[in-house]
Amino acid sequence: MAGELKVLTANLGMKGTTEIDAVMRRGAYEALIKAMTRMTPDQVLGEVKAANLKGRGGAGFPAGLKWSFLPKGKDKTRYLVCNADESEPGTFKDRLLIENDPHKVLEGIIIAGYATQSAGCFIYIRGEMPQGARVLQRAVNQAYDRHFLGKNILGSGLDFDIWVARGAGAYICGEETALMNSLEGKRGEPRIKPPFPAGYGVYGKPSNINNVETYANVPAIIEKGADWYNSIGSADTPGTRLFGVCGHVKNPGLFELPSTVTLRELIYGHAGGILGDRKLKAVIPGGSSVPVLRADQIDVTMDSAGLKAVGSMPGSGGVIVMNDSVCMVRALHNLMRFYAHESCGQCTPCREGTHWLELLSGAIERGEGREGDADKILSLSKNIMGRTICPLGDAAAMPAESFVRQFREEFEFHIREKRCLPETMRMTTIYSA
Ligand SMILES: Cc1cc2nc3c(=O)[nH]c(=O)nc-3n(C[C@H](O)[C@H](O)[C@H](O)COP(=O)(O)O)c2cc1C
Ligand code: SF4
Repeated sequence: MAGELKVLTANLGMKGTTEIDAVMRRGAYEALIKAMTRMTPDQVLGEVKAANLKGRGGAGFPAGLKWSFLPKGKDKTRYLVCNADESEPGTFKDRLLIENDPHKVLEGIIIAGYATQSAGCFIYIRGEMPQGARVLQRAVNQAYDRHFLGKNILGSGLDFDIWVARGAGAYICGEETALMNSLEGKRGEPRIKPPFPAGYGVYGKPSNINNVETYANVPAIIEKGADWYNSIGSADTPGTRLFGVCGHVKNPGLFELPSTVTLRELIYGHAGGILGDRKLKAVIPGGSSVPVLRADQIDVTMDSAGLKAVGSMPGSGGVIVMNDSVCMVRALHNLMRFYAHESCGQCTPCREGTHWLELLSGAIERGEGREGDADKILSLSKNIMGRTICPLGDAAAMPAESFVRQFREEFEFHIREKRCLPETMRMTTIYSA
């Protein structure tokens, strides 16, 4: 079994790691000093590109390539954005990084600021994370005191600021353009693309947005080099990944591992196996927005290629484990309530589709389902997918389609018998016809 490799989480569990003096004794800001005193911005960008660092917010887009989309030139004001909204059900990695090692995130952001010659970075943190916002603001103040932020940082000529902005509790504000609208004080609704953020982002300026974990990878890449980074993990997802395992496991938590770890090793090794020694029934391997897997599909690596082979994807790294006490109809209804509630309502397929997915899954769960309802879920999902302004529509449609495809018999049983499968009855509400 692949062991934990602590690069991003090396300081987690240590004492005083939110304080700049403590983390500097453990090597913090050395990569920043190296980048700004011994490398040109283009060399830093080249190293991150060569490392093939993939975005950790869900879509897995290469970070260095995205940075290179920003227009160059002294006349242009460019901004960075750090997405710390982390509202995806089952995902809890960014919060732990921020609360325990905020300087690693800041160091990565400032290095990205140097590589892209940006004016500053907005860190947009989820409103329900007040502790994280306090820790971040304190760390930002400490970085200013040490002159890692502000004017002409380390004599490099770069003026760079960081502003911490708090969200107000909407999942959709994690979508990059909704986040930018929200930052500007507008309604948190996704923008139609193009224009893309690299051309028209925050306050209309060229902007680059990355996830917290993505930025946190940058210091180690600069310190140890792209070759070292590529020697860890798999070709499609080098480096380590943070996997948050939750649900029916004996040892839930955050594990930092190369993405060559298999889903089985993650669940039965690192997370200690299934709670109550019951049977594994289903896993959502990358946050609630990706297709669900059955128990016989867990012998795959946790990178894009491995999960694609079984019809899913790594998403945000949140692994939701369900044992055989779970009614899959009820689990789907729970998810669809979430997506219907969080849809911003701009596009008809998403606004109406998520609402109908909630209604249909709820009706089946209550014992009011009718023959053909499982197919209706499939048809609704198909009609949402790829027809919306932002990926929230797909994020609802993919689990809905896969729950029915993977557990069709259970949906049909629920419709026919108007109750849960017998083995799930002890744990779920039973509705009589
Ligand atoms: C509905 C929705 C919610 C999202 N929530 C988050 C989030 O909380 N954190 C995040 O980093 N990305 C989130 N994303 C993805 C962002 O739009 C964007 O792709 C990401 O911040 C880019 O960073 P990365 O390239 O480093 O992954 C969300 C996307 C959608 C459609
Ligand atoms: S897909 Fe849904 S959340 Fe995204 S813009 Fe359309 S209605 Fe809003």
